[in-house]
Amino acid sequence: MADLRFETKKNVLLTMSVRLAAAILFCAGAQAQESKDDAAARTAKIDQRVEELLKKMTLEEKIGQLNQVSAGNFLNPPNREEMIEKGEIGSFLWSADSAQLDKYQHIAVEKSRLHIPLLFGLDVIHGFRMVFPVPIAMAASWDPQVPEKAQAFAAREARASGINWTFGPMVDIARDARWGRIVEGAGEDPYLGAAMARAQVHGFQGQELGGTEHVLATVKHFAGYGAGEGGRDYDSVYLPETSLRNVYLVPFKAAVDAGVGSLMSAYMDLNDVPAGGNRWLLHDVLRSEWGFKGFVVTDALTTKDLIIHGFAKDETEAAYRALTAGVNVDMGSRILSQQLAGLVKNGKISVAQIDEAARPALATKIRLGLFEHPYTDLSKKDAVLGDPAARQYSRIAAQRTMVLLRNTNHTLPFSKNLSSIALIGPLANEGLDLDGGWGVDGETPAVTVEEALRKKLPNATIGFARGGEIRRTISSRFDDFFPGAKKSPPLSPAENEKEVEVAVALAKKSDAAILVLGETANMSGEYASRSTLELPGLQEQLLEKVVALGKPVALVLVSGRPLNISWASEHAPAIVMAWQPGTEAGDAIADILFGDANPGGKLPVSWPRSAGHEPLYYSRNVTQYPESDPEYRSRYWEGPSTPLYPFGFGLSYTTFSISDLRLSKSELKAGESLVATAKVTNTGSIAGDEVVQLYIHQRAGSTSRPIRELKGFERAALQPGETKTIHFTLGKKDLTYWSETRKAWVEEPEEFDVWAGDDSNAKLHASFHVIE
Ligand code: NOJ
Repeated sequence: MADLRFETKKNVLLTMSVRLAAAILFCAGAQAQESKDDAAARTAKIDQRVEELLKKMTLEEKIGQLNQVSAGNFLNPPNREEMIEKGEIGSFLWSADSAQLDKYQHIAVEKSRLHIPLLFGLDVIHGFRMVFPVPIAMAASWDPQVPEKAQAFAAREARASGINWTFGPMVDIARDARWGRIVEGAGEDPYLGAAMARAQVHGFQGQELGGTEHVLATVKHFAGYGAGEGGRDYDSVYLPETSLRNVYLVPFKAAVDAGVGSLMSAYMDLNDVPAGGNRWLLHDVLRSEWGFKGFVVTDALTTKDLIIHGFAKDETEAAYRALTAGVNVDMGSRILSQQLAGLVKNGKISVAQIDEAARPALATKIRLGLFEHPYTDLSKKDAVLGDPAARQYSRIAAQRTMVLLRNTNHTLPFSKNLSSIALIGPLANEGLDLDGGWGVDGETPAVTVEEALRKKLPNATIGFARGGEIRRTISSRFDDFFPGAKKSPPLSPAENEKEVEVAVALAKKSDAAILVLGETANMSGEYASRSTLELPGLQEQLLEKVVALGKPVALVLVSGRPLNISWASEHAPAIVMAWQPGTEAGDAIADILFGDANPGGKLPVSWPRSAGHEPLYYSRNVTQYPESDPEYRSRYWEGPSTPLYPFGFGLSYTTFSISDLRLSKSELKAGESLVATAKVTNTGSIAGDEVVQLYIHQRAGSTSRPIRELKGFERAALQPGETKTIHFTLGKKDLTYWSETRKAWVEEPEEFDVWAGDDSNAKLHASFHVIE
């Protein structure tokens, strides 16, 4: 018989704790309601200020708010100061010249009729003075804190220099490594992409717009840009609504929900409608469905491009199409500013429509606090830009983003007692290429691998040989922005061959070799797509010759995209994907190679065997002859169609086991949640990080569902022998998808598989049922 006294006590305790929990919940609920009310009151006040301003503004001044003009060295009208004074410019871009920006702000605030401050936008993509790893690398950390902290540093530096608006985060899903801009986003997956999008919005903007050490963020490029045909930059995109809603739009929605203040439309046609004139995207989805309250800026010159697309017959029609589609700010083309007054005059566009377009831009300036604090105290700039904390974090971030792809016979970490090392490769003593693209004027060049090795191993003999140069076959129109881009005449084939021989000879007489190979910064990014993924130049030949010597060799890949390393994946003793790590590149690479940091990054993309395998992604549908079928034949007769390394993959210097996948229930009603738990243990002898990943699959439904979808991840730091239990909640938001047949968001009463593991091939399995 149960002990009554004990039971009673237990009940009392239970009742007390239920009451306590209820009280806490009540307080939390009350607090949430209060902050909602505060936010609503603040919005109402801002809206009122906007209306008051609009009442005072002339049509020209309203149109001025829609006009963004270059303050850089190109596409800039000569009479900018006069235009500011007349209220004909709402914002600038392409200048990080603090004195110039300060001067312009003074003119706007002190000399323009209504004293409306300016926005100064710039592409602060992965750092400002201090450079952090490129965005795809930050996604490889599988740790949203990395981009959040990095972007907070970048925002602080930019703001201290007079920039109050960045054109990031870029959240385009990229499933084709030929596309150069894969480097700017978070890779192939909507769930990981959404996490990185949220983190970056918070990093740039802070928890709420208006902080004086933060900037306005822009989520871009809306939408589908990453799916350009053939991986070619700017090419047309054809995406069905199901892919858009279930994949490509997901990180945008996450950024909007995180409070991003502006959104940039994309360059290309989406299903035959240019994104910069696409009302379905910019109005129906963005405003009506998502309730976006910020402003829409076009990509540079996009309004003019509407004519190139054959969508508008002339500039007047281009202005009409852009404005009525939902554009608020015209980046650089000045077509809205030149055409709108005429359109109003002949009755094609009403003043109310102009007001509607200007409202979000004005509201954002108010929300940012610019009316109260328009100027930047430039006396603080040097201190902020010299803050050593940014450099320290850049190194940590870089360490956390590197992915160990192969490590046979514990080649890595190398011993610090090696007496001679051959450091080889065209990227081994380059600084700017290791920073990656989108550098601003004054970015800090990266510590080279050579410098870092000499610091770390002062007693070792370190020989360096470039082993041939690498350069683009066709130079980039943006090469002026890449200080590292080569302008000297190219080496002859014989000179390149000679360099390879010199490098091989160096490796021959050394105890070990470190090959730093890959791509220069201008080989990925905008206008930097490729038709192959081969290592440029003679790097493959160099690699194969050095590996053939049979020495301990580490291949360090530096690039903004996965490359074809099929041969290396079978022959190179060790491979580290370092991406473009930023200012602390060399030090962070050396930390990884010599065991001062243990790699814990994971791939945010399925690594292709060659360009012919693209587009490639794990979350595809199972169709005829699936891979699990014993009769399955490869989709390609030349060899496997699977990735070389799966999405989510990455090794460590220690080992882990993931076990005990449990679900809190095996049956749940639509709308309810369950908790999945899994244990992760460090089974090796050194501390390390493992990323536990959770995938689901809906077995049947109103449409076919992907073979697997990531729905949870956590990067856990574990001491040797330590075990942690990781909790994932699976609920309505994870189980709902947009159904092509039902043309609606649905959560269907079906059977679901769940897997937990260390990559997208995770084996640990459970299942549950959603009932009606
Ligand atoms: C074009 C790029 O597509 C976009 O990402 C960038 O923000 C703008 N130019 C401004 O530089």
